[in-house]
Formats: sequence, structure tokens, C-alpha cells
Amino acid sequence: MSNENQTTEKPWGGRFSEPTDAFVERFTASVDFDQRLYYHDIQGSIAHATMLAKVGVLTEQERDTILQGLKEVQDDIEQGRFEWSVTLEDVHMNIEARLTDKIGITGKKLHTGRSRNDQVATDIRLYLRDEIDIIASEITRLQQGMLALAEREADTIMPGFTHLQTAQPVTFGHHIMAWFEMLSRDYERLMDCRKRVNVMPLGAAALAGTTYPIDRNLTAELLGFDRPSNNSLDSVSDRDFAIEFCAFASLVMSHLSRSSEELILWASAQFNFIDLPDRFCTGSSIMPQKKNPDVPELVRGKSGRVTGHLISLLMLMKSQPLAYNKDNQEDKEPLFDVIDTLKGCLKAYGDMVPAIQVKAASMEEAARRGFSTATDLADYLVVKGVPFRDAHEVVGKAVAYGVESGKDLSEMSLAELANFSDVITDDVFDVLTLEGSVSARDHIGGTAPAQVRKAVAAAKEMLAAR
Ligand code: ARG
Repeated sequence: MSNENQTTEKPWGGRFSEPTDAFVERFTASVDFDQRLYYHDIQGSIAHATMLAKVGVLTEQERDTILQGLKEVQDDIEQGRFEWSVTLEDVHMNIEARLTDKIGITGKKLHTGRSRNDQVATDIRLYLRDEIDIIASEITRLQQGMLALAEREADTIMPGFTHLQTAQPVTFGHHIMAWFEMLSRDYERLMDCRKRVNVMPLGAAALAGTTYPIDRNLTAELLGFDRPSNNSLDSVSDRDFAIEFCAFASLVMSHLSRSSEELILWASAQFNFIDLPDRFCTGSSIMPQKKNPDVPELVRGKSGRVTGHLISLLMLMKSQPLAYNKDNQEDKEPLFDVIDTLKGCLKAYGDMVPAIQVKAASMEEAARRGFSTATDLADYLVVKGVPFRDAHEVVGKAVAYGVESGKDLSEMSLAELANFSDVITDDVFDVLTLEGSVSARDHIGGTAPAQVRKAVAAAKEMLAAR
């Protein structure tokens, strides 16, 4: 019985008198999910072996044998010839065992002056650094799409909302540039996070450093890290960088979720502001008329999942004593899923945003309803010498009359308007038009078409300098 239920061949088996329980073996293994670190694990090993030879811990011949063997292991993995073994627990021990199969005893020297604790921390950072660079360019691509849309629709007028009630007219280009700003902050956050990702734990070994004369500056340089980490205990246990990344990702997802909510509303028959191209939508199996905005809905839904992973990681780390604990193995699945989910959402959005079809006439019609130029009328009265609070009161009465009579302010006659204040004259109609209203907000950050064009031009320069 015990033989069937147990396995052997552990690289750490020396002090054990019985094999690991078969269930425990599967329960504690991470190879099913950490094998995606294989490339960066091998890069880390190449740098480590190179450094060990430079300081004389390995001979040059041993180094060359190891590098050749690692190259073959990488080929095996990439050609699908590598069989991952749960008995060998994780990506690190799988690769090392295969290396030793290939090159013999020299393979066993690779792990000199290193532990899986600093190895895994290094692998995750290398892996995440590459993903960060991919995500950064996906954000830029999406932002370029936003700029194209904003430029195209710089003059398009829609109702701006507060409390989802019509507030004041804005340009659609201005609205899209608000989305752009959110992503610009996200990009900055990502670049800031990258600085703390790009610090090298390797050399911390299990927790206290190593007795070999290692050159951590050299390894860091070989791997493109900015510098080696400062403290060995912190190095093997720190996962702040992963949490920071997930916090960044949660904010991006929260922004995309807000945009999604708007797209879903706008695409409804009730708003009728936009059309999403068919290729981003699906139908209903029962209701033939349906065209559902699945992409924005899914993105909105996935935002919860990403923030959930952020919370998982915070909870994972909060009670751990120094230094490495097996708990840390639980960092990978949330982090990987955040990366995959975020990349998927950015890709979908990058494709969809420039293809949004705007129903300008319908937007303008909506802005015409709902007294969106009421503030403009109040401002007009102020210019004519009425104190703002009184002007507010006057316009409130005019709006009440409009609600009763079914007329927008711009549809009332001069005589009707003059009933509310005798300073109102013929020129009032200039400010009651939607075009007049948006064009008058012509300052940095305002909604005037001219300002939208300026903002787009500045944003293009900013993206070009990335
Ligand atoms: N698979 C482990 C992880 O993901 C690697 C480090 C294991 N270290 C150890 N001492 N058990 O964290």
C-alpha cells in the first residue's frame, strides 16, 4: 500500500526516511502553474552560472557545459519534448533535474550559492518585467485609439452628466479625452512599479546570503536589473512588487469598467448614442432582435476578478514572518491571472475603441433635451449684472416653465424669456445654442472643440516621447 501511495527521487530527499505522501506531493507542487516561468528561470540560471565561473566557483568548462545543457532544456520545452513531473514539484527542480540528466554531475553544480527562494523571487520579477513592457505598449496602443476617436469627434456634442442626469453640453471628444487621462495615470503608475520590480533578489540564497564569493552586481547586470536588492531576508520574502502591480491593474480595470458601463448605456436603445461594430457584439439565442455589448460587459465583469486577486495577495502576505514561507507559492496564480486578464481586456479595448460608431445627431438631440444650457443662461444674466444666486433662481423658474410647456430654453421666444428677467435681450440665443455653450468653455481642460484639438495634439506628443 505504502509503495503505491508514495513516491521518491526528491532533490532534497537526503534527510527523509519515507517518501512523500502521493496526495501531499500533488498538493504542494506548483509545476502545473509555475512552468510558465521556464524561460526566465533559464535566463536566471545562465546569469548565475556565468557569474559563478567569473568568480572561480565553477570552471569555464563547467560553465560552458551548463549553458549548453540549459539551451537544450529550453529547446526541449519549446519543442514540446519536455515532460513536467509533479514529483519534481516545481519549474526549478524540473529544469535542474533535466539538466543533470543531460550533462551529468556538472548539472548538480548549478545550484551552488543559490536557493529556490531567491531563484523564484528572481524568476517572477524577470517574468513580470517582460509582461509590464508588453502591457505598457498595449496601453499606448489603446490610448492612440482614443486619440483617433477624440480627434474625429472633437465637434460632436453630447449631454454631459452628473448623477446620470443631463448637466451641461460637452463634446464627445472631450469625454473620450477624460478616458485618456485615466490611462495616462495608469501608465505612469506602471512605470513607477517597474522600478521596484527591476531589483534583483538573486544572491540572497535561502535567506541569509551565501558563503561563496558571489558578484551580485555582475549577475544583476547580466539580467538587466537596475541593482541587487539590499537585504537577503527581505529579498526572498518581498512580494510588494506583485501587489503593487495588481493594484495598478485593478485601477486600469476599474477605469475600463467605468468606460464599459458608459458604452453599454450609450449602445442601448434608450440612449442610442453609439453603435458598436457587430464583431464586438453577440446575439441572443431566443430574442432575434438582440445585439449585446458583450465585450464591454465582460470587461466590466472581469474588473471584479482582478481586484479580487489584489485582495488575495494582500491577505497572502499580511501575516507572514520573515523570511520565505511556502505560502508565497500562492502568489503565482493570482498574479498570472491578473496579467492574462488585463492583457485580454486591453487588447479587446484597443481593437474596439477606434471602431466605435458615433450617432452624432442622436447625441445632439439628447443634449437639446434636459435644459443643458441652463447654466449658460445663468452666466449670461451674471454678465448683465445679475448676482449669480439671483440668476440661478431666475433660470430655475424658466426651467420650471419649460418643463410645464414642453419647451427647451432655446425654443422659448424672447417674450417668454423676458418674463423671467428684463435684462434678457435678443443676444440670449447665442448662449442658448449647444455650439455656443461648448465653444465658450475655451480654457485649459475645457470642453470647447478647440481645446479638445489642443489636448489631442499635446497627447500625441506625449505618446511619441514614451
Ligand atoms: N515553488 C516554490 C514557490 O513557488 C519555490 C520555492 C520553494 N522553496 C522552498 N524552500 N520550498 O514559492
